Amino acid sequence: MADPPVTVEQAIESQAVSCGPNGSALYGLLLTGLLADYRNGGLTAEFLDGVSAKPWNDAIALRYLATAHRLALSGAAPRLARHYPSCGGRWGGDEITDDFLTVVAENRTEFRAGMRRNVQTNEVGRAAVLASGFALIASRFGPVLDTLELGSSAGLLSRWDRYHYATGDSGFGDESSGVGFDPSWWVSPTKPGLGSQPRVRNRSASDISPIDISTADGRLTMLSFVWPDQLERVDRLRAALVIATEFPVRVEQADAGEWLARRLAEGLRPGASTVVFHSIVWQYLGRATKDAVRTTLNAAGALARQDTPLLWLRMEPATTAHADLRLTTWPGGDDEVLANVGYHGAGIRWLL
Ligand SMILES: C[S@@+](CC[C@H](N)C(=O)[O-])C[C@H]1O[C@@H](n2cnc3c(N)ncnc32)[C@H](O)[C@@H]1O
Repeated sequence: MADPPVTVEQAIESQAVSCGPNGSALYGLLLTGLLADYRNGGLTAEFLDGVSAKPWNDAIALRYLATAHRLALSGAAPRLARHYPSCGGRWGGDEITDDFLTVVAENRTEFRAGMRRNVQTNEVGRAAVLASGFALIASRFGPVLDTLELGSSAGLLSRWDRYHYATGDSGFGDESSGVGFDPSWWVSPTKPGLGSQPRVRNRSASDISPIDISTADGRLTMLSFVWPDQLERVDRLRAALVIATEFPVRVEQADAGEWLARRLAEGLRPGASTVVFHSIVWQYLGRATKDAVRTTLNAAGALARQDTPLLWLRMEPATTAHADLRLTTWPGGDDEVLANVGYHGAGIRWLL
């Protein structure tokens, strides 16, 4: 296996290589141009050098791109917006590095601030596989759920029941929702049954560094991290942001381990299944936080009964190509893999 990128130059190069297969030809080509600028000691070197000791892990190349995208989305960089489909522009495969660098030169203050902003996405596409899991829980224990989300980012997945899902065999949710998942999301011959109509009684969410999408600035931050030629994701995120303004969910600022211990200290409440869930979060947690989450779940699970079940539903990477949707159920503590799914939520292979 190739060594992980260590230097800023390697980080930009690896990011350029990985963008293509991950669906952004625009960023793939742009990063190749920015890599040449870096090697020539241009503006890219000025802004990316010295930002992080771990330039690849901290995705500093994506911070740079997101800062420009943010300016384009806000109307402050028409020179770039005209190329970015997310801003109503068109991109036909042409070289845009010079336009990008002109925007950098004209917005030094914004780029200095942007290089300090962590890359953070809240992928609405993951709702389809999570909803499949919630529907399974409802079919086993009854429709009423209390949900607790760890690493919620902006809380868009905690609003999963505001979206619409149709596997082709069954469906769930609000058909007039601006966010819908059609049968193409479920690719296996067997599909989850969505007919059990799960209903959320209490929902709570937390993140170590939440994005407040009740503000225009928070919504812009969220959009800026999506790649500008991935229009389907941009449109889905925009629709979810509209729903979010109509249906507020508070995302508490807290470490997952400390927060879960506090929430479950009150005990499992009768009349609902308690579901702790998360997606693409586990790799970001320190050992102490992971241990705290497991310890809290095991302790609460030991007190769970058939009428106050505790469920741990999570979508987390299983291989470099796919994530698993796993469910642990208390009483008992049985663990099962419900589905395989792509990291952004597409290609759900239901395994039951
Ligand atoms: C890749 S994002 C995933 C966000 C969301 N779950 C999704 O699927 O779109 C990982 C999230 O984990 C959060 N996070 C990282 N460390 C955390 C911690 N110790 N406690 C709580 N959240 C944490 C980050 O702030 C970020 O929002």
